[in-house]
Amino acid sequence: MLFSGSLGAFRDRLANRKQHYRLVLSLINKFSKEKKMEKIKICCTGFSRRGKDLAKCAHADSDFEITAVCDLDEIRKKEAAGMLGEKVHFYTDYNEMLKKEKPDAVTIATPQYNHRDLAIRAFENKIHVYCEKPLAMNLAQCDEMISASEKAGCVFIVGQQMRYHFHLHKAWNIIAGGEIGKPAMIWLKEFRGPFRVSPEHMWIFDQEKSGGMLVEKSCHHFDLFNWFAGSRPVSVYASAGLDGLDNVKNFKCTINDNAWVIVNYENGARAMLGLCMFLGKPDRAEGTIGFHRREIGVAGEKGILHTEGYLPAGNIEIHYADSHNLIRYELKKEGTIPNKFNQEGNKGIFMDFAECIREKKKPFASGEIGRMALAVSLAAEKSCAEKRIVQIDEL
Ligand SMILES: NC(=O)c1ccc[n+]([C@@H]2O[C@H](COP(=O)([O-])OP(=O)(O)OC[C@H]3O[C@@H](n4cnc5c(N)ncnc54)[C@H](O)[C@@H]3O)[C@@H](O)[C@H]2O)c1
Repeated sequence: MLFSGSLGAFRDRLANRKQHYRLVLSLINKFSKEKKMEKIKICCTGFSRRGKDLAKCAHADSDFEITAVCDLDEIRKKEAAGMLGEKVHFYTDYNEMLKKEKPDAVTIATPQYNHRDLAIRAFENKIHVYCEKPLAMNLAQCDEMISASEKAGCVFIVGQQMRYHFHLHKAWNIIAGGEIGKPAMIWLKEFRGPFRVSPEHMWIFDQEKSGGMLVEKSCHHFDLFNWFAGSRPVSVYASAGLDGLDNVKNFKCTINDNAWVIVNYENGARAMLGLCMFLGKPDRAEGTIGFHRREIGVAGEKGILHTEGYLPAGNIEIHYADSHNLIRYELKKEGTIPNKFNQEGNKGIFMDFAECIREKKKPFASGEIGRMALAVSLAAEKSCAEKRIVQIDEL
């Protein structure tokens, strides 16, 4: 009796406790769900080709809610409403948008000659920034942007989305795991069609406005070199020319359209880029896809890693130096667990942006990463112009 009474009381106490725990648990769940449901209010600046890509990503990501779009061109108003719905506000004045919308975050997809001003204005208003690559026109502007983000305590992520491509992230993991030994030689070949030709986009063919092909395009390539080499770039030698684009739709083209570039790293690694941008019709025009080839390789003392293609599901091959063995990772078969490094780069970078805002972390594509990629780009352009080896420390 005594025994069963104690057991009963114990059971009642347990039941009470369980009820209590359940209540606490449901409150925690409710609270965390509500917290999770709180959307990051984001405004999109620049709504042309790249701005629309970014808006699509933010729109599809449940962490974000786009409240407004800003573009100097009124024509974008209709396009924004078509893509994002009529309730998204439209501005032609960035400052007015920041003032009225008070967003948590902005995307900046305007030409690089105004990235600095737009980003700094956002940081002054304690707004997190996703800024497109190339980060700015020079390293002093990058430094100003980085220190403004630090002062504001805001996330600063740069559109170096190649870092989030599934197959490139996988390649980096293989390299970092020591499978091919220390990277000694890295190469990247991209042979493709020219930049898009359209009236609002002609700034890209103007060396003064875009910084040149090795700034506009190759900040992606050099970021990859910096990442895979795992070291600081020290010097650059480049040779470039203008062989196919000389007169783009009656506009005097002042950028180069093909180049070879060699980058030397502090740890002894060296990387080489071959870029050709005069093949086929302008970017993404029908028929250019056959020319749009990107090939990446890394050689270490134990073997060579090789990958080809744009898609996140490209294959990776490893040839071992001592055994003539070949391993092929067929990434399509690996399945996709949704995380920021397991899909297409644009989605992954937005996942990182949201995560960093919520958890107050530094992004994988940080301001410093964008700055270092730009440093190699600027050195490469200087080397082409002055026909000599350029030290990164000169910049
Ligand atoms: N990460 C990538 O892979 C990638 C790809 C393409 C372009 N980009 C970069 O994105 C940026 C934009 O490229 P794009 O091809 O869309 O250029 P674009 O010239 O087609 O579009 C720029 C848009 O910005 C608007 N704009 C300019 N100044 C503005 C301002 N002060 N306020 C509001 N709107 C303004 C213009 O009206 C235009 O609609 C460039 O820096 C480019 O290098 C990055």
